[in-house]
Amino acid sequence: MADNIHHEQDIEKSFDAHIMSRLMKYAKSQWLLLFLSILMMLMVTALDLGVPYVTKIAIDDYISPKQQLVYVTADEGIIYPNVFERLLGTYDASGAEKSIVYTDPAGSYIIKGMAPAKSFEFFTLDLSSRTAKHGDQVYQVLILDNDAAALMKTHSKSQLVTLTVTLGFLLLISFLSSFGHTYLLNYASQKIVYNMREQIFSHIQSMSLSFFDKNPVGRLVTRVSNDMDNINEMFTNVVVSSLKDFLLLGGTVIVMALIDLRLTLICFSTMPLVLLSASIFRKRAREVQRAVKVKIARINATLAENINGMKIIQIFNKEKSIYQDFDKINTDFLESSIEETHVYAIFRPTMNLAYSLSLSLLLWFGGGDAIRNTVDLGVLVAFITYTQQFFRPIMDLSEKFNILQSSMASAERIFMLLDEKPIVTNIQSPKKLDPVNFKGEIAFEDVWFSYSNTPQTDEDYVLKGVSFKAKPGEAIALVGATGSGKTTIISLLNRFYDIQKGRITVDGIDIKQLDKHDLRHHIGIVLQDVFLFSGDIKSNIRLYNQDITDEKIKEISRYVNAHHFISKLPKGYDEPVVERGATLSAGQRQLLSFARALVFDPGILILDEATSNIDTETELLIQDAINKIIKGRTTLIVAHRLSTIQHADKIIVMSKGEIKEMGRHQELLANQGMYYDLYTLQYSEGN
Ligand SMILES: Nc1ncnc2c1ncn2[C@@H]1O[C@H](COP(=O)(O)OP(=O)(O)OP(=O)(O)O)[C@@H](O)[C@H]1O
Ligand SMILES: [Mg+2]
Repeated sequence: MADNIHHEQDIEKSFDAHIMSRLMKYAKSQWLLLFLSILMMLMVTALDLGVPYVTKIAIDDYISPKQQLVYVTADEGIIYPNVFERLLGTYDASGAEKSIVYTDPAGSYIIKGMAPAKSFEFFTLDLSSRTAKHGDQVYQVLILDNDAAALMKTHSKSQLVTLTVTLGFLLLISFLSSFGHTYLLNYASQKIVYNMREQIFSHIQSMSLSFFDKNPVGRLVTRVSNDMDNINEMFTNVVVSSLKDFLLLGGTVIVMALIDLRLTLICFSTMPLVLLSASIFRKRAREVQRAVKVKIARINATLAENINGMKIIQIFNKEKSIYQDFDKINTDFLESSIEETHVYAIFRPTMNLAYSLSLSLLLWFGGGDAIRNTVDLGVLVAFITYTQQFFRPIMDLSEKFNILQSSMASAERIFMLLDEKPIVTNIQSPKKLDPVNFKGEIAFEDVWFSYSNTPQTDEDYVLKGVSFKAKPGEAIALVGATGSGKTTIISLLNRFYDIQKGRITVDGIDIKQLDKHDLRHHIGIVLQDVFLFSGDIKSNIRLYNQDITDEKIKEISRYVNAHHFISKLPKGYDEPVVERGATLSAGQRQLLSFARALVFDPGILILDEATSNIDTETELLIQDAINKIIKGRTTLIVAHRLSTIQHADKIIVMSKGEIKEMGRHQELLANQGMYYDLYTLQYSEGN
């Protein structure tokens, strides 16, 4: 399960309702912002659809009117409803007859009783009888004199001003809503992702160490950050805006069809081309995007690994071959990226071609209609805008579909990570160690342990039936060849892993019955490789515990012989520590970690001696420090230099996961067994 978390390969994932609904649960906390954002989005969409329509009215009714709605009262008075009244249908024209004003080069006429048609309708005008004929219908015609025609023009102009102002106002609202929509949406998405990231971080903190054995840190880091980016992109660019695209698409088609069905069909005759190229694009884009992602991940991993290992690379003079390796990966990535550029470079122009084709058809047929007076000019203009408006969301949607797919895969990986249960867990109501009378008695009873969860044979076990006891205050030393299981014993005592068989007790209580934090609170530990955090010397000793005063830190540092070198640093205890304390020597780091372990005054102390060589002077300091700090507490020392442990109360000799010998220094030497061999070996080496 967890092994999949870092696989770059399975990036493909189609829409998954289950994952989506889980994602939406996170969105819930931001529902108000999202809701407002969607409202504004609806507003923008409505305005996008409405603005071309307003243009159409301006052109057809006022700029170049062929027909204009008026009302003629019984005494031949003329009522001009204004543009808002017309749009909203709120004008009062009771008793008056709905008519149109028709203008041609010779003059303007009112055709009584003829209602304005959706587009201009043909009729024959007979000025001698003052009638107009349309089909079987005969209408009475009034000829407008010059004054009335002028009045009409003034009316048109003022309505045009109204319309222009309205349009400006609508565009302003559209601008503001669009801003609000984008801002709120991004804000909400960032918050959602922020919450998820916090949850993931604290989840990762709760994971048992075996999880980190399985999941390499570098991959985990890039996975979490990339996947969260994908999810963020999905929230900001896909979910809500796709809804907008769909609405805009549907809305455009409906509005167009309502205005003129014939022209709509003409415009959409290029649809097969559009759909075909969109579906080809989607498939190709997915492939190349996947390739690009896999390759960028490879570049990142290579970079991280090689920069970390730069020292070794330089020591072994491997710059050239590593460079060649990197060059190959980098070239691979370049090729995929160019391929991706190809796909996009073809898709957009193809869609533009389809758009131009639609536009040409529209101009050809629609233009012809306009010349023949069967289509109003305004309709044609509006259609040009709508057509453009129709193609944009199609392009966007095709591209967003891929984001959706990869973010689905990302979400799945994130959820997989979140679903991973910590293996080492606290029981329901854990027992408590006595904080005041903590004794620090340790016992291992026939402990069997394997790092794999499903050990098959005895060979799979790293510890095989280990039993020993440490009485309160005793110093126990663990020695043995590398890989014999010494560090493992220490990890188990801290309950970083759970054992398969046997029992480990502290003060007589099985550590599985204890709260992990309670247990670890009583154990001070100095690990084989000391890890320092970025910060300063003080903060590395204090480790976030503000109860520890600066005086206490100095006192302890003096005690463990660390004060000497710290006070020589330019800024003393405030000297910044760069990543992992690279500027300090191994011995200095070790002394620092003594101070760190001791400052909490733990009842049990564990020392896993560094294997690296330390100069004789520092070694003496360390030796002296160890002798001091083991006093008054149970101590478990993993020793590589046997000189360190000659005074230990008990020395345990490990080999291949088993205890081979146990006893005091002198006893073991007298035995002439393994310990004796190790000891004579070290001394013959002059150590
Ligand atoms: N996290 C881990 N996952 C799997 N196997 C591990 C892990 N840590 C250690 N091992 C294996 O367990 C065995 C014991 O390792 P351990 O670190 O306890 O040895 P050690 O006695 O501390 O050696 P050294 O003296 O080199 O520190 C080794 O064979 C090692 O390969
Ligand atoms: Mg070790």
